[in-house]
Amino acid sequence: MPHEYKIASMPGDGIGPEVIDAALDVLDAVARYSGEFTLSFDNLLWGSDFYKATGTYLPSDGLETLKKYDAVLFGAVGAPDVPDSVSLWELLLTMRGSLQQYANVRPVKCLSSIEPVSRHVRPRDIDWMFVRENSEGEYAGQGGRTHSGFGWEVATEVAIFTRHGVRRIMRFAFETAASRPRKLLTVVTKSNAQRYGLVLWDEIAEEVSKEFPDVKWDKMLVDAMTVRMVRNPQSLDTIVGTNLHIDILSDLAAALAGSVGIAASANIDPTRKSPSMFEPVHGSAFDITGKGIANPLGAIWSSAMMLEWLGEKQGSMLVMNAIEKACAEGNTTGDLGGKLNTKQVTAAIISMLANPV
Ligand code: NAI
Ligand code: MG
Repeated sequence: MPHEYKIASMPGDGIGPEVIDAALDVLDAVARYSGEFTLSFDNLLWGSDFYKATGTYLPSDGLETLKKYDAVLFGAVGAPDVPDSVSLWELLLTMRGSLQQYANVRPVKCLSSIEPVSRHVRPRDIDWMFVRENSEGEYAGQGGRTHSGFGWEVATEVAIFTRHGVRRIMRFAFETAASRPRKLLTVVTKSNAQRYGLVLWDEIAEEVSKEFPDVKWDKMLVDAMTVRMVRNPQSLDTIVGTNLHIDILSDLAAALAGSVGIAASANIDPTRKSPSMFEPVHGSAFDITGKGIANPLGAIWSSAMMLEWLGEKQGSMLVMNAIEKACAEGNTTGDLGGKLNTKQVTAAIISMLANPV
């Protein structure tokens, strides 16, 4: 019997529905061609329109509802007439935190035929796996504002680092590095200036490294890391860091590899107590919404990560090969220098799935 998975699809805002539609078409096709699993999707329309109609991004039983699924496929959230701090916190960060998806995984590769942006970077130099701490740090939600509106108003934004939180992400990162051929990990901090939380990161990296004698690892300060990514990209493989640092570095990485439109990510609960959530790295991209030109590769690649997490490695590989082949043949959207629209790229990928070589 083919394995049956229940997926919550949350397209969200802007180009979210456009790229999630594409991902669902590809997932339907790969399930059909592989015959090893089936997928059923429920479309959950929780985004900024829902917020404007009801005053809340998630219904009161929304998190409980999500827990019934094997995985969540998410598009993007953000609307021009809702403050970003509201949409991000009420939807995305609430889901990541409440479902304890503490590891955010972001693979970055130069896909076939896509030229890296910098002349210092050769396509084969970029094959990175970013591991972002996804539950605390600068996005822990601690802080506040006092004397609101007065000239002496004060705002605090407190970064939280717990021994438990840092240790669990460090273990996850070492395990990820150990599972990749080069077994190489770079731990990114800023422990010269941030002398409490990030010194704790350094100490825990030392401790955890002893459990992984096969993994070679080094430390980088985040500012120097930006230079190394551009100047010496081939020296990097798996990279771990705080919520804020990897948020920034992974956007830089996606741009170096071609476009933020191809960047994929997974919000993982490694304990598998809650469903993990898969989403393109990009946002709702108001500037191109409704034009039908959004690059669907970030969402499609995220679906491949979902299949892999569900245990469908073969299906995941089929999708990745189809993405590679579609790019190699120049079937890309404008952000990658191509001429196709979202639907045409999706159709090209589906036809590659039908005729894998
Ligand atoms: P963005 O990622 O939406 O767009 C940045 C630039 O990249 C834009 O020029 C856009 O056209 C382009 N771009 C993004 N995705 C693309 C794709 N698939 N194909 C082709 N081009 C693409 O980031 P921005 O403009 O800073 O934010 C817009 C809204 O999205 C804001 O409300 C922001 O808060 C939200 N956002 C949400 C995220 C999420 O849901 N995870 C992540 C980032 C931003
Ligand atoms: Mg970001």
